[in-house]
Amino acid sequence: MFKRIIVTGGCGFIGSNFVHHVAREHPDVHITVLDKLTYAGNPENISDLPTDRVELVVGDICDAALVDSLASHADAIVHFAAESHNDNSIADPRPFLETNVEGTYTLLEAARAHGVRFHHVSTDEVYGDLALDDPARFTEETPYHPSSPYSSTKAASDMLVRAWYRTYHVPVTISNCSNNYGPYQHIEKFIPRQITNLLIGGRAKLYGDGKNVRDWIHTEDHSSAVWEILTRGRLGETYLIGADGERANIDVLRAILERMGHDPNDFDWVRDRPGHDRRYAIDATKLTTELGWRPTHTDFSAGLDDTIAWYRSHKAWWLPAKEETETRYLQQGQ
Ligand code: NAD
Ligand code: DAU
Repeated sequence: MFKRIIVTGGCGFIGSNFVHHVAREHPDVHITVLDKLTYAGNPENISDLPTDRVELVVGDICDAALVDSLASHADAIVHFAAESHNDNSIADPRPFLETNVEGTYTLLEAARAHGVRFHHVSTDEVYGDLALDDPARFTEETPYHPSSPYSSTKAASDMLVRAWYRTYHVPVTISNCSNNYGPYQHIEKFIPRQITNLLIGGRAKLYGDGKNVRDWIHTEDHSSAVWEILTRGRLGETYLIGADGERANIDVLRAILERMGHDPNDFDWVRDRPGHDRRYAIDATKLTTELGWRPTHTDFSAGLDDTIAWYRSHKAWWLPAKEETETRYLQQGQ
């Protein structure tokens, strides 16, 4: 199978968890991480891995010469790199267009030139949102209806991947996953923001009425699904990844407060996100029936405890970014 893979965004949250997963489960695979090391990328996330098997190239996925040269020595590209945070995309959309759209285009052209297998990591947000009382869940047939600058650039990147398959026969697959949680997640995101606020003696922050629903999956389960799709998925196909983890934000927040020894009502209601999607929900039937994939981290309470413990014991990892992240939120009234 694949012996030399490029992982874009491998110093970010999900990318670095995937690199750990592959290094542990498939030690015969050489991984070249291509990462620009934006505010969201941290080389420490993969610094414990053997350098003869995991190589870091610091660079931009929009750099066509660099990407072409790396692709000429690879047999697969697993594309995680992105600007990933909705609130940032509302404040300043331009980097999202550059990285998510132009970057994906640049990688696809390199994959085309060298006949390299391409797996595109995308999001359930391309489908827009569902009402709280709607029994429906997203499937691979749900029409695209993105809401935010972030999700619209991810939708655009998905369309490029589909077009490069149909027009140029680049060997692609796409996965659209729900909300991930686990170690190495940037503290701008919902779960680590609340945990680290409490760890520094601050207060938890809930947007709007708190009834918005997200469909949580442990990032380790996302990694195993991406590997299955990369190695056994049908070319040109899209697979939704999810683990039946629908939960209202207010319930997740109260669970964090209680597990960290706080009153579950002791938090701040803050300004809602403009255009805030109400509910996401994934139907992963295609992935489970066709490839036999199953999530293994299905106990959300246990996963939350592990995640809280990870942030407790990795203060040096997140503390340097805390003040800047919270200043940004304060300016937005959040
Ligand atoms: P992240 O923001 O934690 O990490 C993004 C990584 O990409 C960082 O290491 C960053 O330095 C790198 N990067 C950004 N721009 C780059 C560029 N131009 N060139 C090279 N590297 C660049 O993101 P994440 O949450 O780990 O998400 C990874 C992927 O998974 C994204 O494509 C995202 O759309 C998708 N996704 C995320 C979730 C989630 O819950 N976080 C769910 C489904 C899908
Ligand atoms: O669904 C997959 C998507 O999940 C990914 O594509 C994105 O890259 C990832 O960032 C995530 O998007 P969300 O916008 O759902 O995640 P976020 O962590 O920003 O927020 C989760 C929910 O929590 C959302 O409804 C907004 C709310 N929220 C967020 C923050 C940061 C709060 O109530 N308070 C907060 O402080």
